[in-house]
Amino acid sequence: MGQYGFFDDANREYVITEHFTPLPWINFLCNKDFTAIISQAGGGTAFYRESSSGRLTRYNQTRVAPVDRPGFYIYLRDKNGDVFCPTYEPVRAPLENWKCRHGLGYTVFESEYKGLKTETTYFVPRKDNVVLWNLKITNNRGEPADLSAFSYVEWTFHRVDREYLGFHWNRFYHDSVFSSEKNAVLYDCHVFEDLPKLKVYLSSSEPVDAYDCDRNRFLGRGGMPDMPLAVKNGRLSCDNKPSSGYTIGAIQNNLKIAPGQTAEITFMLGSDPTWETADKVMVKYKCSENVKTALCEVKKYWNDYISAFNCDLPDKDMERMINIWNPYNCYHSFNRKMSVTGMTPGYEKGGVQSRDSSQDCMSLITLEPSIVKERMDAILRFQRPDGNFFDCFDIESQKPFDHHSGAERCDNAVWVVYTIYDMISEWDDIDFLDKQFPYYKGENASVLDHLYKGLEWIAADKGKNGLPKIRGVDWNDNLYMFTESGDEETVMIAQQLVYACRLLSELAAKKDRRDIIEFCEAVISDMTKALNTDVIWDGDWYKRLIYPTDTVDLGSKDRQEGKIYLNTQSWAVISETATDGRDVHCMDKAKEILDTSYGIKLLFPAFTGVPTPDDPIYNNGPGIRENGGIFHHANTWAIIAETILGRGDQAFDYFRKILPNVSSEERGADVFVNEPYAFSSTALADPDPRPGEGDMAWFSGTVTWMYLAGVQYILGIKAVPDGLKIDPCIPKDWDGFKVVRKFRGCTYNIEVKNPSHINKGIKSIIADGEAIDGNILNVCGKKEVSVEVIMG
Ligand code: GLC
Repeated sequence: MGQYGFFDDANREYVITEHFTPLPWINFLCNKDFTAIISQAGGGTAFYRESSSGRLTRYNQTRVAPVDRPGFYIYLRDKNGDVFCPTYEPVRAPLENWKCRHGLGYTVFESEYKGLKTETTYFVPRKDNVVLWNLKITNNRGEPADLSAFSYVEWTFHRVDREYLGFHWNRFYHDSVFSSEKNAVLYDCHVFEDLPKLKVYLSSSEPVDAYDCDRNRFLGRGGMPDMPLAVKNGRLSCDNKPSSGYTIGAIQNNLKIAPGQTAEITFMLGSDPTWETADKVMVKYKCSENVKTALCEVKKYWNDYISAFNCDLPDKDMERMINIWNPYNCYHSFNRKMSVTGMTPGYEKGGVQSRDSSQDCMSLITLEPSIVKERMDAILRFQRPDGNFFDCFDIESQKPFDHHSGAERCDNAVWVVYTIYDMISEWDDIDFLDKQFPYYKGENASVLDHLYKGLEWIAADKGKNGLPKIRGVDWNDNLYMFTESGDEETVMIAQQLVYACRLLSELAAKKDRRDIIEFCEAVISDMTKALNTDVIWDGDWYKRLIYPTDTVDLGSKDRQEGKIYLNTQSWAVISETATDGRDVHCMDKAKEILDTSYGIKLLFPAFTGVPTPDDPIYNNGPGIRENGGIFHHANTWAIIAETILGRGDQAFDYFRKILPNVSSEERGADVFVNEPYAFSSTALADPDPRPGEGDMAWFSGTVTWMYLAGVQYILGIKAVPDGLKIDPCIPKDWDGFKVVRKFRGCTYNIEVKNPSHINKGIKSIIADGEAIDGNILNVCGKKEVSVEVIMG
């Protein structure tokens, strides 16, 4: 039980019992094209496709109080003038038995107020681009209830920056009017540069009794959203005169409810490119049966989605995350990368970042294959003819653009190799390697050649120590602050390149491509040698960035700041490039110097001035994000490295303490601040005075890699081209665990037993009574198999 709520595992919900959490704790309600975020107080916003260019409603995450407003509010007014909101906000009338239940794809508010019981469910149907607000009110008063329900949203420009910049100029370029034919308030945003226009509406399942389209008319002189004068007076204006910039949608429905009866009403906030579709949606959800069916479809979708992998573990915190919240978060991180949460209004440009998105795909290969295929297809088309991938691109306009730092990323291709290797392994689809895709504005080439070309590009430009030059940045975006010429060599990309070559040569062997195999073997051998010279190995760990000048290398003990970096230790293990026992040694040093009770720091000591105290480019203070914060994304590779070393207790300790449910409950929700059911990208570390505070929830490479670290490395169930590999690395005190894993059309019911209480190692595997040679399962033609794994 947390400070503000608890996990209801049976219903797969997080139930919030306090109105105000440290930050808005949100849920995502979405289908492929339409997204709404909603907080525990009913605050939130909606957008069509991109949050930066398809925004529908206004929401304040950042400006000084009140934040988390407005949202999707319903005011309920009793005939005697009493007003309350089922969300509590913004009226704050005292409610009894109030709860906000965030579930998979829906959020429900329950409340009681003076004999009126409400249940309000918000969700986005799987196929219709609308957020439904389904309100049920039960009258337990013993006398008839005479109520009015007022729904209310504030429209905003589709491009959200217009809200802040040049509002005076743009304010007449959007209008809101009521249409009796459509039974809806319609919003029309017609800023010329932003066309094509969306059809946007707020409608009701019941005939609209009154409406308002202008904020000033609705709130009244001196009125506040806490108690709009129109609500207080019980009647919206029905004035259809255009609003001069302060456009809203408000709908009034009067309801009479007999004692003991329940009334139901559904408000619809939707948008579509055409009225033809939008009209159908408005008609469809007039019928409460259709609302019910659509909600069942949403629940079914998420239940099927998470059923690809299910586990029963001795540690219930890990089990809850792996079974429910981590896969849920994987979808949202993939879907709306760098977009809107309760804390951030999103980015100025939407779009897809090649490397972040291919990483997001990795967990979805098992969970939601179709979107992975589509996305990887797009990413391959944004590979340049020279081999590197564009850092970012916009799917809608099919245009590439640079990352906001302006620095080229040299690591895009390695992630694409990792992802495609996993796709082929999962789906047993070796022929995907032959599929033809064009390079961006270039010739067609097979997938295998795309991958080859990408790695060749990295390997082509080496520095004097034989490692790839950074050119712009590698995984660490902030490294551009430390580069002088772009000729610096990056240890991390050398290690990642080796790991990519190991995977690529396995794939090339399936297609008998000697040229690729030879390239990979040469890279592996040359890099392994280069990585283990005294220039790169600093005596206790691997350095990070090597300068061609006499600037002291990053990650070297000779530096005052930035002496040791986590990533080059973890990747030394993952890439298997560490020689002479250096793998264990460097991971031990990383633990000794970087580990904290809140997770592992990215580097130490943090920089007090970046790169020198008088340099104007001073971003994150010491202990924040890339500057020695606890970067969860990087923690995941340390977890994986520890499992490769066979140290299951260490891997589990690193894994467990950065689970959001554990972080929130053990540190305290007021310290962690973010949602306990979604991963945060980083946590602050000392010397920052807020150690343990979570930063940027929902969107992060952490999400996918925590899933992989948990499922594929700790539980050790990983698809490889030849089948399903079983290689757990668990805490010694675990007696074992169970897993249900769907793989290539067969359900594997796996029970792992650990009678001798070890971390890693398999004595026997028996599948449906037959002993298996090795640890790779590939049972063709069966629908279900029982597997017993004995560790020993
Ligand atoms: C952010 C970026 C990611 C980068 C990381 C470290 O998460 O989205 O691409 O690798 O920061 O700089």
